Amino acid sequence: MAKLQAIRGMNDILPQQSLSWQYLETVFQQVVRRCGYQEIRFPVLEHTELFKRSIGEVTDIVEKEMYSFDDRNGDNLSLRPEGTAGCVRAADQHGLLYNQQQRLWYAGPMFRHERPQKGRYRQFHQFGVEAFGMAGPDIDAEILQLSASLWQELDLGEYLTLEINNIGSAEDRKRYSIALSEFLQLRVDQLDEDARQRMHTNPLRVLDSKSLQVQEALQGCPQLESFVNDESRQHYQQLQALLGSAGIEFRENPRLVRGLDYYNFCVYEWTTDTLGAQGAVCGGGRYDSLVEMLGGKATLAAGFAIGVERLVLMLESLDKIPAEARQPIDIYLLAVGDNLGQQSLQLAQLLRAHYPQLGIVSHCGGGKYNSQLKRAFNSGARLAVVLERDEPGKELLGNVKIRRLDDSAESETVEITEIIPKLAEFL
Ligand code: HAM
Repeated sequence: MAKLQAIRGMNDILPQQSLSWQYLETVFQQVVRRCGYQEIRFPVLEHTELFKRSIGEVTDIVEKEMYSFDDRNGDNLSLRPEGTAGCVRAADQHGLLYNQQQRLWYAGPMFRHERPQKGRYRQFHQFGVEAFGMAGPDIDAEILQLSASLWQELDLGEYLTLEINNIGSAEDRKRYSIALSEFLQLRVDQLDEDARQRMHTNPLRVLDSKSLQVQEALQGCPQLESFVNDESRQHYQQLQALLGSAGIEFRENPRLVRGLDYYNFCVYEWTTDTLGAQGAVCGGGRYDSLVEMLGGKATLAAGFAIGVERLVLMLESLDKIPAEARQPIDIYLLAVGDNLGQQSLQLAQLLRAHYPQLGIVSHCGGGKYNSQLKRAFNSGARLAVVLERDEPGKELLGNVKIRRLDDSAESETVEITEIIPKLAEFL
């Protein structure tokens, strides 16, 4: 019978790769914890309506990319394509937002039916932070500082560039869209199919088209900057001053508009050129109208989300996973001879009690010394500890051997009662 395969664009994360993920998760959680953010968890399935109302009906995500279906009750549900909508729904439903300030984070899988390629998948993972109840721009600067600290901790700072833009309010963008659409209609011959469609439905998205021809057609187009309101402009200037004083470098990108409709004022993206076409590693901005649009009381809000797969790709290709994080097992315990099960279990527990931070695997399934040693090497452990009985039925020898599993093959036989201090010398 033919074997079944995973769904295209949905990846299995195998044990060796999980180590990179765990390293990243640990560092992310340390950074958000230090900044006082608390975890929120919400379902991967929500009513489709939630995403339509928040992300926007005329966006690629809602029009083309959601995994939506009617469940057995006839309710139309979707796998979450991003975390902000669900986070707002959950926080508001449980009364965390009204008249309060919240700093929240989440992590988990998101689903978009995009064309899979390196760095772009149909199930992918995000780390997100969302802050509620603060007008900014101090909270916007804090959020960007938090992301910059994460890059620093991961030693990726020099490979990431912060791009920012001011996109004003929804009304500003409506007026701008009309002007941009009129401009594009005069150059329709120079547009590709995608841009022609967007010109009518969501002209702002033409701005971040990757087609060179479309970018040429955009030369001399009306600038969003001249349509944005004064409050938004002031906020943006203050944010830039705060970023400057925090030593966070940025580049203004007037073409940065983001693919989700809920933003206002400042938006941002951290990009890299180490990943090829999918260079956006983190994106976000303010979204002060979203809570109200979803039926809550008006609540100021800002946040971002990081693409975990993209960050893992960066860490691995730039060789930034520390050696300790790549070491799942430290000690492999061999038991050579009959009926050593009990002693081997006891020794393993004794070692684990003394070295709780180490990974200690006890060989199971018997076998000769050489075949056990081979497994010890394959496990990636640093040290082997060998428990040996000379002849069947004889008392357990009072000695164990400690052996380095590297080219030195250095080893020492020690009294079993001395194993703990001796191991410390080898570690
Ligand atoms: P987004 O820009 O759509 O924003 O996604 C954030 C990040 O998720 C992207 O920068 C990228 O790294 C990653 N990502 C997106 N799609 C894929 C994919 N198909 N495969 C792999 N990685 C992907 C949001 O989702 C907003 N909710 C961010 C936000 C939070 N804004 C305010 N708060």
